[in-house]
Amino acid sequence: MSIEERVSSVRRDFSAEISSAKSSEELADIRVRYLGKKGIFRNFSEELKKVPPEERPSLGALINSCKAFIEEEISSVSEKFLEEEEYKRFFSERIDVTLPGEACFSGGEHVLKKTLREVVDIFVSLGFSIQEAPNIESEANNFSLLNFPDDHPARQMHDTFYLDEKTLLRTHTSNVQARELKRSQSKRMKVVAPGLCFRNEDVSSRSHMMFHQIEAFLIDENVSMVDLIVVLREVFQRFFNKNVRLKFRHSYFPFVEPGVEVDVSCIECAEKGCSLCKNTGWLEVAGAGMIHPNVLCKGGADPEKLSGYALGMGIERLVMLRHGIPDIRLFFENDVKFLKQF
Ligand code: PHE
Repeated sequence: MSIEERVSSVRRDFSAEISSAKSSEELADIRVRYLGKKGIFRNFSEELKKVPPEERPSLGALINSCKAFIEEEISSVSEKFLEEEEYKRFFSERIDVTLPGEACFSGGEHVLKKTLREVVDIFVSLGFSIQEAPNIESEANNFSLLNFPDDHPARQMHDTFYLDEKTLLRTHTSNVQARELKRSQSKRMKVVAPGLCFRNEDVSSRSHMMFHQIEAFLIDENVSMVDLIVVLREVFQRFFNKNVRLKFRHSYFPFVEPGVEVDVSCIECAEKGCSLCKNTGWLEVAGAGMIHPNVLCKGGADPEKLSGYALGMGIERLVMLRHGIPDIRLFFENDVKFLKQF
């Protein structure tokens, strides 16, 4: 066979092979056999040396054009294969984002925090601005500036956790009254103060050593008990989503005068008597009163010009009433089955 014939037979063989190739692997194989170091074209160049010199250029050109054809074919087919294979890979690796995911447990807001926020929002909508204070407080802000005399039994009433002689874990959110009075220039303010409080009490179904309170107070000219009643009724009606009646019972807190315990008509039985209200028809929901002149004085406000009311409520108690929860300890035991209900 002449070289010309062999070149065209190589071309034919190659065309047949490449059209039946199915993957880039097979293609790589073909490339090695034709163009590789020990491939078919290597033989041609060996043979070309034996051909008379005058025939070499035309034969060389023929061989080269065949080689170029093969190189081009291989690279265009290989491009096609790579594209197809990449597409197949994408297809097999693709993620169906519409499939339902694996269920994983995500935490939620604690019912106490949720309710705290809800009540604060009610106060904010009535024009109160939020002020917070740290849990660690001075004895002065928690007691002295709130008209608790030294050695007054009310201090023992609070069963305080002392950190040292002058610092303690705050026993109520009323400490914010003292802080805000000190801070304010005008001494006029309308504040809602949510937060944690601590008392060294025996833990039982009704009391805990840690609980949440919300305090609200207004100090301005001509503030009276009427303003207090209006705000209390509004807040509890919105919170319980019911018309409620209010009842004030006289009570003692050193920082208010007069001081009252606030009851709302029972949200279950509307004063008829049921287990929630222990047959009294009423639910105790807050402490309140007119801010004591001594507190205003100690805070730099003139009680001849300004007056104010303050009220404070326990969030645990509100949540227990609303959901009929019998034991305050449930809030802090972190049993997910309990917490998930809210
Ligand atoms: N600070 C009082 C308590 O902890 C509640 C209270 C607040 C009473 C404001 C009167 C006015 O019991």
